[in-house]
Amino acid sequence: MSKAKEVLNKEIERRRTFAIISHPDAGKTTLTEKLLLYGGAIHMAGSVKARKTARHATSDWMEIEKQRGISVTSSVMQFNYNDFCINILDTPGHQDFSEDTYRTLVAADSAVMLLDGAKGVETQTIKLFQVCRMRGIPIFTFINKMDRAVKDPFDLMQELEDVLGIRSVPMNWPIGIHGDFKGVYNRQLNQIELFTNDKSHGQAIIHSNKGDVNDPIFKDLLGEPYYSKLIEDIELLDIAGDSFDLNRILKGELTPIFFGSAMTNFGVEPFLEEFLRMSPPPGDRVFDENLMEANSEDFTGFIFKIQANMNPNHRDRLAFMRICSGVFEKGMQVNHSGSGKQVRLAQPQQFLAQEREVVEKAYPGDIVGLFDPGIFRIGDVLSSLSGLEFHGIPSFPPEHFARVSAKDTMKRKQFLKGITQLAEEGAIQIYKEPDIGVEEFIIGAVGILQFDVLEHRLKNEYNVDLKLTSLNLRYARWITEIEGRPNDLNLTSTSRLVKDTKDNYVLLFENEWSIQWALDKNKGLSLRNIS
Ligand code: G4P
Repeated sequence: MSKAKEVLNKEIERRRTFAIISHPDAGKTTLTEKLLLYGGAIHMAGSVKARKTARHATSDWMEIEKQRGISVTSSVMQFNYNDFCINILDTPGHQDFSEDTYRTLVAADSAVMLLDGAKGVETQTIKLFQVCRMRGIPIFTFINKMDRAVKDPFDLMQELEDVLGIRSVPMNWPIGIHGDFKGVYNRQLNQIELFTNDKSHGQAIIHSNKGDVNDPIFKDLLGEPYYSKLIEDIELLDIAGDSFDLNRILKGELTPIFFGSAMTNFGVEPFLEEFLRMSPPPGDRVFDENLMEANSEDFTGFIFKIQANMNPNHRDRLAFMRICSGVFEKGMQVNHSGSGKQVRLAQPQQFLAQEREVVEKAYPGDIVGLFDPGIFRIGDVLSSLSGLEFHGIPSFPPEHFARVSAKDTMKRKQFLKGITQLAEEGAIQIYKEPDIGVEEFIIGAVGILQFDVLEHRLKNEYNVDLKLTSLNLRYARWITEIEGRPNDLNLTSTSRLVKDTKDNYVLLFENEWSIQWALDKNKGLSLRNIS
């Protein structure tokens, strides 16, 4: 094996690229911060959080982010832990939930599903889980906030199965769940790890007090009722639960569960270590018909996200590329699938935990930000080979719809340019109604905030005042099969037939009842919620 190949293999083997999927407030920021803390990327917890609330101090994101103090688009953080190089893809939650949140998952090799132990599986988690499921990536579950009163852990396992349809295997098991958390039992090591609330509010690294479950000291330390309950639970799990099966985990059929508390740091480090041990390094990726092996000598990457105006002084956009194979080198010439031309990748940026910096070399699994003079699109392939295409990034179902046009009809051209560009960046989806010209469109967005972003950007970048009327529609469904002509479909009066930018027919509905009506009244019609 050549020296270069050896280095490449080693770099791939030590990389882990994942996203944390969760519902707002489950503790994603807190957990991310603790992972950075253990990785030595930050020295005191609190800095990520501070950045979340006072972002204007540390970055020059879009104006709108400053005004609202939230992050509109997702970012990436890289840090090292032991010999591993970790890339965490941030998936925005709250009102800034958008298509980007979904698309980021296409760049991940695995996901950490974070649940609030008191709340269980919540809506946003369900949506993100479904995308991970579709991709078949492994999902690792961290059940957070164990220091508080939480749901019964057996009920939580049942919920995973009932709501998400995934079987689970607890890696550890909590002792005391009524706000009287004592610690966990580690099933592999047959060991008890005691919770110590060090009162530092989780700012410092903690190491738990551990020992063999059969050591009589634990009966004393925990007290008879807790100890007996634990022994009973362990027996039940051993008899009735799924056994640990790494193969099923890697296929995304079985999720390992870890109980812990991100705020107090309890269980964070053991989780990180187990996660790194079990989760896959960047694997081979399929580019339409071509399989690219991660350790191929040929470089490939694809664009999964485009973010505009990080620096308001320059109107550039930043395109985020996930590297899939080969070695990336600053300044390299690659083939660009979108234009069929060669482009030079100058000034690439990488995102370390606290700042951006220019990257010289990067490997499969890494995310590189490329300055984009307006040539890149979501799904574009950049490769040392030519002719590769990637159609693996679907359009996700928008949940908010509006009719848009320019207030001033003289600004039609700029209006068209502006919304087309935003659709290319993937912030919104555009639909055309039959018989309506290019002065008016229906737009759809996954998150409501995208409408504000659209208005703001059209005004600031294209000098267009937008006329935007919200529509009482909630669901988009792509037609996959149909008997007869789309125009002849029997639909409820509030449903609409439109076309997306790829000329696919899409039906927009107000409620689930109307979707069912369409399916019942039109023989041979099949619909899909992702393009
Ligand atoms: P998010 O990014 O998923 O939206 O959640 P975030 O980390 O901001 O956490 C949401 C809230 O949950 C925060 O409380 C945070 O401190 C709390 N939290 C996170 N992990 C744990 C945990 O393990 N145990 C407990 N008890 N709470 C946890 P907050 O009151 O909104 O903010 P703050 O005042 O703590 O900053």
